[in-house]
Amino acid sequence: MNIVLLGAPGAGKGTQAKKLVENHGMLHLSTGDLLRAAVKDQTPLGIKAKSYMDAGDLVPDELIINMVKERIQADDAKKGVIFDGFPRTATQAVALDSELAELGQPLQHAVLVDVKSEVIVKRLTSRRTCRDCGYIGTDADASCPKCSGEMYQRDDDNEATVTNRLNVYETSTAPLIDYYRGKDLLVTIDGDRPVDEVYADVVAALGL
Ligand code: AP5
Repeated sequence: MNIVLLGAPGAGKGTQAKKLVENHGMLHLSTGDLLRAAVKDQTPLGIKAKSYMDAGDLVPDELIINMVKERIQADDAKKGVIFDGFPRTATQAVALDSELAELGQPLQHAVLVDVKSEVIVKRLTSRRTCRDCGYIGTDADASCPKCSGEMYQRDDDNEATVTNRLNVYETSTAPLIDYYRGKDLLVTIDGDRPVDEVYADVVAALGL
């Protein structure tokens, strides 16, 4: 099953994707995670992407689309992919449809995790992530509750960058809600509830 997780920065897409992977074994394809790894490794893609990410702007479509195309052709994508943070523009959405059509594995659902922007700023400025296992937590986690690894704050989780990311979301990504509604793939979940309640609705919506 191929699904897109849609939603504003900090809506909880990564948190829900990790739970789906733990319980249902699909591939978690987070374009943000792939880009952060490229920045860390100082690959040509990472060097090009860094300034956009630091500002909270979108990395150019052609770079993202090539990165995703390469990743979904790998064998481990055959078990189904959870697209997290992709697509983010109409161009990316059309490219994804055409690539999945070529692979004969179309999208089954687009799940919108819906959270108001007032909640988001607080969530993102207090988010902390485990350097070792990628667990997503908050500033209440002194160390990772899963593996005791070091928790760090993402460079783009400061208030100014978060504000820009929210503006970019409204302008470039929110229109995809209508795109997927028009294809009859959209499911909307209220993401402003405890993680496990949101997850229960995601699982029910996907029929898992
Ligand atoms: P990316 O890494 O994709 O960031 P994002 O979309 O801004 O999303 P986040 O990872 O910030 O949020 P999330 O929804 O996954 O929330 P999370 O589960 O972590 O992108 C980063 C940058 O890369 C972009 O700005 C851009 O520059 C570039 N980029 C990436 N993809 C791109 C693309 N396709 N095209 C162009 N550029 C691209 O949760 C957040 C916090 O809330 C955590 O602390 C968590 O513990 C907490 N939380 C989660 N759920 C709940 C809940 N139900 N209740 C209370 N707290 C919760």
